[in-house]
Amino acid sequence: MATTARRLEGKVAIITGGASGIGESTARLFWTHGAYVIIADVQAERGKSICEELDDNVIYVHCDVTSENDIRDAVDFAVEKYGKLDIMFNNAGIMNVGCMSILTIEKSQLEKVLQVNLVGAVMGAKHAARVMVPRRQGCILFTGSATASIACMPEHSYVASKRGLLGLAQNLSAELGEFGIRVNCVSPYVVGTNINKNQGPVADPNEFAKFMSEVGNLKGAQLKPDDVARAALYLASDDASYVSGLNLLVDGGFTAANPSLMMAISQLH
Ligand SMILES: NC(=O)c1ccc[n+]([C@@H]2O[C@H](COP(=O)([O-])OP(=O)(O)OC[C@H]3O[C@@H](n4cnc5c(N)ncnc54)[C@H](O)[C@@H]3O)[C@@H](O)[C@H]2O)c1
Repeated sequence: MATTARRLEGKVAIITGGASGIGESTARLFWTHGAYVIIADVQAERGKSICEELDDNVIYVHCDVTSENDIRDAVDFAVEKYGKLDIMFNNAGIMNVGCMSILTIEKSQLEKVLQVNLVGAVMGAKHAARVMVPRRQGCILFTGSATASIACMPEHSYVASKRGLLGLAQNLSAELGEFGIRVNCVSPYVVGTNINKNQGPVADPNEFAKFMSEVGNLKGAQLKPDDVARAALYLASDDASYVSGLNLLVDGGFTAANPSLMMAISQLH
C-alpha cells in the first residue's frame, strides 16, 4: 500500500455527476488527496458552489453526458488546462423512479436511462481513452450498482444500464490493458442521495437509505457517499496499480448473502 497521505497528488480527474451525492463526495475526497478535479455535470449552481467552497483546483464544466460533444469538450478542457487526464470517473446516473414493472415500462423512459447511465459512460470512456492511450496510462472508473449483481429491484432500465456497465468495464479492461489503462467499477448498495428521492412511499432519500440499511446484510452501519468515494479513491490511486476489470461491490455483503435461506434455517430451530 502507498503510504503517502495525499494519494492523488498532481493527478487530473474528471467526475461526471460530480455536483451531487457520490460524485460530489468523490470530488471533495480526490481534491483532498491532491487531485485537480473537473466536476462535469448539468447542475451548474451546485457544481460552482462546490468549486467556490474549495479552491481553483476544482473546476465545474457543463457536461450533459448524453451529448458526445459535451464529453469531448470536457476531456479536451482537461488536456488543455492540465496537459493530461489521469482519471475518468463515469458516475452520472439517473433512475426511472416509480416504474416497477415490465408491463408499464415506457420506451422513452428506458431510452432516457440508458442514454445517461450507459451510452454516456461509453462516450466518457471513449474520449478518456482517446487521450490516455497515447500516454499509455490512465484509470477509467464507472459507478455500477449492487443491483447489477443480484436480482432485487424491479427497475429494469436502471438494472439493464448497470449490468451493461459491468460488461463494458470488463471488455475495456481487456482492450485498454495493452495501453496500461486500468478500468474498474465501484458498485454501491443504497445511499441516501437525490437519485433515491420518492422511492416507493418514502420521499426522503435518507429515510429510504436508512430503511434499506436495516434490511441489508451488514448490521449497525449505513452506507454513505463517503464510503463509496473511498472505494473510488482506492481504485483511482496507485494502491490499485495492478487492479483492472474489477467490480468493487460496496454493499456490506448484500449480494453475497442469502437472507431468505438464513431465515428459513433459523425457523427450523
Ligand atoms: N444512491 C444510490 O443508492 C446508488 C446506488 C448504486 C449506484 N448509484 C449510482 O451512483 C451514481 C451517482 O448517483 P448518486 O447516488 O450520487 O445520485 P445523485 O442524484 O445525487 O447524483 C447524480 C448526479 O448525476 C448528475 N447527472 C444526471 N444526469 C446527468 C447528465 N445527463 N449529464 C451529467 N450529469 C448528470 C446529476 O446532476 C447529479 O449530480 C449514479 O450512477 C447512480 O446510479 C447510486
